Amino acid sequence: MIRKLLTIALSGTFAFSAHGADYDATTQAYIDQLTSMGLPAPKENQLVHIPPTMADLEAADIHPELKKVIRKGYDLFTNTQQLRGEYVFNNMNCSSCHLGEGRMPFSAPIWPAAVTLPGYRGKNGHVNNLEERIAGCFTYSMNGKPLEYGSDNMLALSAYHQWLATGVEMYPKQPVYGRGFPAPERPAELSYDNGQKLYEENCAICHSEDGSGLRVDNQTVFPATWGDMSNNWGAGIVRLFTAAGFIKNNMPLGQPNSLTDQEAWDIAFYMDSQERPQDPRYTGDIKETLEKFGPTFHKHSLYGQAREKDGEILGDHDNTGEKPFLKPDSIRPRTFD
Ligand code: HEC
Ligand code: HEC
Repeated sequence: MIRKLLTIALSGTFAFSAHGADYDATTQAYIDQLTSMGLPAPKENQLVHIPPTMADLEAADIHPELKKVIRKGYDLFTNTQQLRGEYVFNNMNCSSCHLGEGRMPFSAPIWPAAVTLPGYRGKNGHVNNLEERIAGCFTYSMNGKPLEYGSDNMLALSAYHQWLATGVEMYPKQPVYGRGFPAPERPAELSYDNGQKLYEENCAICHSEDGSGLRVDNQTVFPATWGDMSNNWGAGIVRLFTAAGFIKNNMPLGQPNSLTDQEAWDIAFYMDSQERPQDPRYTGDIKETLEKFGPTFHKHSLYGQAREKDGEILGDHDNTGEKPFLKPDSIRPRTFD
C-alpha cells in the first residue's frame, strides 16, 4: 500500500522546469502529489526533475541492450542483497535509504550524482566520479566492498543512475529540489530518553526494539537501524543532521513530516547512541581515528563519545560485523601530483 503510494507519486513522464515557479502541468502535478504526502514544496529557483520510471524505460526509444543494462542496474539497486557475502555484508539494499527506487526527493535521490560528478568530495578529499561515489555507499552504508570499477555490475548500476537523470543538464547551476536528506534545524537540547520513547512508540514495530529490523527468507523486509546488520560508523547517515533529515522526511514509512523537528532529532540522537560495525577508516585507535576524521565527519556523529546512558565509548571496538575485513581497497588516497 505504501509502496503503491510511492509509485503513484513518482510515476509520470519526465519534464523539468528551469525557471523557478513556472512549472509545466506535469511538474506541477508531481509537486502537488509530493506536498499532499507532507513533503515541502520547492523553493524558488530550485531545479525540479521528474526521473523516469521503469515503465518509461520500457517505452523509451533506446537500444534494447542499453535497456537490459539499465534494468540490471535497477535490479541491483533495489535488491542489493543478491551481492550478499561478496560485496554487501549487512541487511541493506541501496533502496533501504534511497526510497522510491532512488527517485524520491528528500530521500537522497541518486540522479543528482550523475550530473554533478566528477566533483570534489570533502569526505575523501579528492575528485570523485560516479563510480567512486557509488563505491562510497558500498564501503560504508552497505558495510561492504565496492564493485570493481568498470565491471559489468558497476556499469549497470551507474547506467541506472545516469538514466534517471535523463534530460538534466550537466553541472546544473540551480540547486536541486529535495537533494540529500535536508535536515531540520537542530534544537538546543537533545534527549536520549525521549528519543528512546519515541523510537519504541513509532519505529520499533517495524525496525524492532533492538534495531535489528526484520528479515524473511533471506530478504530484508525492514532494514536494521543499528547493530551488526546495519551500516557502519563511517556511513553518512550516522551524522546526526543526516539521520534527523532522513527521519523527518521519510519515517515512519509513508508518513513524511509527521514528527516534529525536536522528535526527529531526539530519535536520531538515540539511534546514533547505539553500536554498529567499525568505521573502515579506523586506524586501530579511536582517538587517532577521531583526530583524523573528526574535523570532516565525526564531529557530526557520536562516534568516540561517551554514551549518555552508561558512559560506554561509542565505536571503541574492532567489530566489523559480518564483514571479514576492515578496509576495502577503495579507501586509498588519490593524488594527481
Ligand atoms: C544506510 C543508508 C544508505 C544506503 C543503504 C545507501 N546509501 Fe547512498 N547515500 C546515503 C547518504 C546518507 C547519502 C548522502 C546524502 C547527503 O548528501 O546528505 C547518500 C548519497 C548517495 C549518492 C549521492 C547522491 C547525490 O545527491 O549526489 C549516491 C549516488 C548514492 N548514495 C548511491 C547509493 C548506492 C548505489 C547504494 C547501494 C550500493 C547506496 N547509495 C546505499 C545513505 C545510504
Ligand atoms: C511501517 C514500517 C516502518 C516504520 C513504522 C518505520 N520504518 Fe523505517 N523503514 C521501513 C522500511 C521498509 C525501510 C526501507 C525502505 C525500503 O526498503 O523501501 C525503512 C528505512 C529506514 C531507515 C534507513 C535504513 C536503516 O535501517 O537504517 C532508517 C534509519 C529508518 N527507517 C528509521 C525509522 C525510524 C526512526 C522510524 C520511526 C520514527 C521508522 N523508521 C519507522 C519501515 C518502517
